[in-house]
Amino acid sequence: MSTHAVPVAPPLDLVALRAQFPALQQLVHGKPLAYLDNAATTQKPQVVIDALRHYYECDNANVHRGVHALSERATAAFEAARRTVQRFLNARSEREIVFTRNATEGINLVARAWGDWQLKAGDEVLITAMEHHSNIVPWQLACDRTGAVLKVAPIDDRGDVIMEEFAKLLTPKTKMLAVVHLSNALGTINPVEEMVAAARRVGATVLIDGSQAAYHMAIDVQALDPDFYVFTGHKVYGPTGIGVLYGRESILEAMPPFLGGGDMISSVTFEKSEWNALPYKFEAGTPNIADAIALGTAIEFVRGIGFDAIGAHESALLAYATEALAAVPGLRIIGTARRKASVVSFVMGDLHPHDIGTIVDREGVAIRTGHHCAQPVMDRFCIPATARASLAMYNTTGEIDALVTALGRARQLLG
Ligand SMILES: Cc1ncc(COP(=O)(O)O)c(C=O)c1O
Repeated sequence: MSTHAVPVAPPLDLVALRAQFPALQQLVHGKPLAYLDNAATTQKPQVVIDALRHYYECDNANVHRGVHALSERATAAFEAARRTVQRFLNARSEREIVFTRNATEGINLVARAWGDWQLKAGDEVLITAMEHHSNIVPWQLACDRTGAVLKVAPIDDRGDVIMEEFAKLLTPKTKMLAVVHLSNALGTINPVEEMVAAARRVGATVLIDGSQAAYHMAIDVQALDPDFYVFTGHKVYGPTGIGVLYGRESILEAMPPFLGGGDMISSVTFEKSEWNALPYKFEAGTPNIADAIALGTAIEFVRGIGFDAIGAHESALLAYATEALAAVPGLRIIGTARRKASVVSFVMGDLHPHDIGTIVDREGVAIRTGHHCAQPVMDRFCIPATARASLAMYNTTGEIDALVTALGRARQLLG
């Protein structure tokens, strides 16, 4: 009998890893910072900060239209970053990678350009009850413009989509399934493979919001096979102001442009304009060159560490955090899905999450409180808000312990 060894990623060297993140080295209110607000944005490694600085110090020029050395260097670095993103998502072609401002813009681009082109009265757009506002509001607007109807697949008490209800709502009327890969409010990992396959059976187009997934797990758009996949740079340890829309080439080719202006055209007369090749057709105006380049650096940094090691560390940390927080008197975790990553949302009796957040901040612990741009999730659980600890590759069990101690302090002061 032959045995196959399952490859196990070596554990992360957390001391060396953390040393690469300048912001993690500081004291906050005289205490070591425990940064547990990663679902909102992650801290940046030195290489990303250096990439931004290098661009502005050495290569700063506009891309695509210059013949001088700086412009050629800027263009080469910008397009190299696009190829890095292509490899990161395992997209077939760099023509499928559109740089946007963030995930929100990527979804709005699709809701406008694809939605106004394809949706008509009576069509349906299906989302889930755990979407971020960015994957609700653009579809509401698209439905208002086109007469399509927004349908919402409900979630159960654990925070899982009720798949029987999802299956009932997905019909030949469904023209778009827009679903979050990993919920920022609950930590639920949706069964997107199954959802994409179901959408294919009814002929629906699929958009996946990978804003949270992209820094916790490897994404393979060829294996997953959505039509669109969006993520946002600042959560993948990259800068703010840059995001990515992956679009299947055949759809991007056929789809009308989103914004008009320079760079997205091949020719302009007063009578008629013609569109540039992909992906430039969807990148009107001067792009966010510096941040795209630094996003490429961030992605290389993440790939250098590897999602096997990141995933193993974050899963262990999530298990530790879940157990430690569940043991805090009066604390209730919101979101206990079967497949979860990196997020522990909770409430503590009648203590207001905002007050909890303010007190733990005094202990150097950064968490987020509020509705996390997912107000319908709060409504579903009949709560106004949660406190949320969210993990990244550099977090430690010591930081979870600091949170638990700080929550004890909050209970003392507020309880
Ligand atoms: C699941 C999800 N979708 C979309 C977004 C929007 O990201 P951005 O504000 O960078 O566009 C976020 C940000 O928190 C998110 O968590």
